[in-house]
Amino acid sequence: MLVKHAKMIVDRDYMISRIDPRIYSSFIEHLGRAVYGGIYEPDHPMADEQGFRRDVLEKVREIGVPLVRYPGGNFVSGFNWEDSVGPREQRPKRLDLAWFTTESNAVGMHEFADWAKKAGSDVMYAINLGTRGPEQARDVVEYANHKGGSKFSDMRIANGRKDPIGIKVWCLGNEMDGPWQMGRKTAYEYGRIANESAKMMKWVDPDIELVASGSSSSEMPTFGDWELTMLNECYENIDYVSLHRYYGNPTADTPGFLARTMDLDAFIHTVVSICDAVKGKKHLKKTVNLSFDEWNVWYHSHEQDNEIWKQEKWGPALPLLEDVYNFEDALLVGSMLITFLRNADRVKIACMAQLVNVIAPIMTRNGGGCWAQTIFYPYMHASRYGRGTSLRVLVDSPKYDCSDYTDVPYIDATATVDDAGNVTVFCVNRDMQEDYVLDVDLRSFEKLTLSEHILLHHDDVKAVNTEANPMNVAPAAGPGGTVKDGRAEIRIPALSWNVIRFTRA
Ligand code: AHR
Repeated sequence: MLVKHAKMIVDRDYMISRIDPRIYSSFIEHLGRAVYGGIYEPDHPMADEQGFRRDVLEKVREIGVPLVRYPGGNFVSGFNWEDSVGPREQRPKRLDLAWFTTESNAVGMHEFADWAKKAGSDVMYAINLGTRGPEQARDVVEYANHKGGSKFSDMRIANGRKDPIGIKVWCLGNEMDGPWQMGRKTAYEYGRIANESAKMMKWVDPDIELVASGSSSSEMPTFGDWELTMLNECYENIDYVSLHRYYGNPTADTPGFLARTMDLDAFIHTVVSICDAVKGKKHLKKTVNLSFDEWNVWYHSHEQDNEIWKQEKWGPALPLLEDVYNFEDALLVGSMLITFLRNADRVKIACMAQLVNVIAPIMTRNGGGCWAQTIFYPYMHASRYGRGTSLRVLVDSPKYDCSDYTDVPYIDATATVDDAGNVTVFCVNRDMQEDYVLDVDLRSFEKLTLSEHILLHHDDVKAVNTEANPMNVAPAAGPGGTVKDGRAEIRIPALSWNVIRFTRA
């Protein structure tokens, strides 16, 4: 078989930034079976004393998810946080106009905070700036974070939680540019309400961090103008701008699909430029960074969801957005994670959307099993091994053209170094036919040995994992290679996700 070559220079002094571990965050929305039947199923044999599925918690901990965005998503734009606290039997059932579901509020703020603690995660809480405004934004921060002695903090204490929940990161609404959003706003209207909410929330708790809603996708007709206009109103009082991006595979063309990260990179750079333009124009010192708080592949379930809604609206926990991910989806997810690492100087938070059942790496069956989808693996690997510092590497790889992009490198790779000096290379081979030898120049490091090559590959790009066959697409030991005098030669199989770990000898 013909083997091609690609080259990579990894230099310890060429650092992009410390990696904020929160780039490995995720998202649980009151949507479909994410909460009910996902993280919470009190009748399940694996349920703990609070009704949380232990098998799901175990899988979440296996990934290592530092932060979980909650409770939406589109859901949050019609949500009253007060409905979700206090005695369960007194919580109202509400119609959720985002997903045409009835929300029981059986799981609310307190329960979710308990679940997150068990999962080893912090909570990123989104407030409703669709149907509500600054007053409720102020109240919910007081409820969650104030020590006591005021109406809402005392309400929390009366509801059984003496100490503040202590939520540090808050989203100022969700996708407020989208016509599908309850209480959609123009960029100016949103910028104003975000600013006034932000001021009041920080007056209650100056230690919180706030994420302003950017465009719901780079394909929105208002993208760019939205960021510029709303940041003009709220830049001084917010800390991050959100980006959301989901990729489909409309032409079912693998090379074109795997090239989508070219768009992701451009999206990030455009938003960075707009943030910095506003900073410059306002003569400010503060830098606003990015929270990529929804990202994933999402397309498999669209038709199924329309069928579900045709048959039944308002049912609780309808099985919505249950994408079954295949092997090529895992490769794109791997490339998306590589893109975040490459932009670690500005992307400080990123949430794979979502975590359980709803466009998720973890699936469950009600009353049944819990298994890892294909996309679980690159996410888990990046979260486990992509810690420390992101390095600015040079990659010289053959390139290809496809329907939407030109000069797409077949080898998409980056590297990180941890605090002990161990180097990890993450690499996707987009080539459908050819294996590569990746020549990695590591001479700037003290002696490194190849300790592990983890490989995710399947001969069928459409292969999936199911409850009956959960390890159909699963990591295995890769072919590895050699390291001599600071130069490594690693074999990278055609169409594969690779984690190559070099440890200090
Ligand atoms: O993650 C699913 C949905 O996608 C979210 O509710 C919304 O914010 C986005 O459009």
